Amino acid sequence: IITPVVLCGGSGTRLWPLSRKSFPKQFVPLINGKSLLQLTLERVRPLGPGLMVVTAEAHRFMVADALQTVPGSAQVILEPVARNTAAAMALAALLAEQNGQPEALLLFCPSDHHIPDAAAFARTVEQGVPAAEGGAIVTFGIVPSSPSTAYGYIQHGARRADGAQQVERFIEKPGADHALQLLLSGEVLWNAGIFLCRASTLLRALQQHAPDILASCREALPAPLASTEATGPQYVTPLPGAFAACRSQSIDYAVMEHHANVAVVPYTGAWSDVGSWNAVAELTPADAQSNRIEGQGHAHLSHDTYIHAPHRPVVALGTKNLLIIDTPDALLVAHRDCAEQVKDVVAQLESQQ
Ligand code: GDD
Ligand code: MG
Repeated sequence: IITPVVLCGGSGTRLWPLSRKSFPKQFVPLINGKSLLQLTLERVRPLGPGLMVVTAEAHRFMVADALQTVPGSAQVILEPVARNTAAAMALAALLAEQNGQPEALLLFCPSDHHIPDAAAFARTVEQGVPAAEGGAIVTFGIVPSSPSTAYGYIQHGARRADGAQQVERFIEKPGADHALQLLLSGEVLWNAGIFLCRASTLLRALQQHAPDILASCREALPAPLASTEATGPQYVTPLPGAFAACRSQSIDYAVMEHHANVAVVPYTGAWSDVGSWNAVAELTPADAQSNRIEGQGHAHLSHDTYIHAPHRPVVALGTKNLLIIDTPDALLVAHRDCAEQVKDVVAQLESQQ
């Protein structure tokens, strides 16, 4: 039995102006009117009777809405402030311990990825179960297609007795030169950002590599903080003071780069972390001129242009390699090569406010 833990705390600023602090990309109805969070819940719900979501206090109602679309009960941990994935995952593992299930297999899943083939995904997760039961942290590896610096890289080694592959080294977001060198070595996979392990395994790994983060989270989650409401999910609220004092670091830097017993199972199905407008554009089929048009967009004498226009007509004439994203209160026009820099512009806009 697997307990999925959906991590739902990112802000996704690279998808501005559609994704906002108050309305991050996992809540945006991006695919046939469904949000990535909704699709994630649908994908993981069948994996086991339990389900946890770790999210920001400010987003509790959007999460509750999404949870209404899937059957069964859920526990929702409401973070008073964001302290990155090491803390978010620690809270979930501590909650499993409080639930009396320290040996539960937790499947940590980002809320903002697009994995269209749920059945293939479930089969791959199953392949990781023996290694996770044996005490490993199991990662899922994607065959890399470019020397991207947005991902963790997994250097894999020999096949283990439990069927998974041993991870020799985990390198989180290498620089451009290092990424290219890793790619050319032919022995690396991208980290999909999905982890399978026992709650107790993660707690021991945190104790070993980031004891301060674990201590802050333990202090923030003294049992029993759970409140049971008549209907809907069970909310768990960490103590704001103790949690705010927690160091903010991702699990990749805090644990994965240092831990010895890490295994990887390759995932060969389609996977996208929908990390930029280029990735979103890929989700829309291209026409003969490689334009991708959503909503009321029109492209004439144009090629390789993506238009997102849900509200009003948007016309591109004689354009190439453009991203045009129209929303009621902000418009983005960007060269495709600059999709990664949208987050820098958003940071600039924020600092000017
Ligand atoms: N609850 C909660 N609290 N969730 C969080 C927080 C937090 O403070 N911070 C991030 N998350 C969620 C995000 O919403 C996302 O679903 C997931 O955790 C991963 O965080 P990202 O911030 O998107 O990480 P990343 O994309 O830079 O890197 C990770 O994913 C890559 C694959 O997409 C790493 O694991 C990389 O190694 C990996 O390649
Ligand atoms: Mg991400």
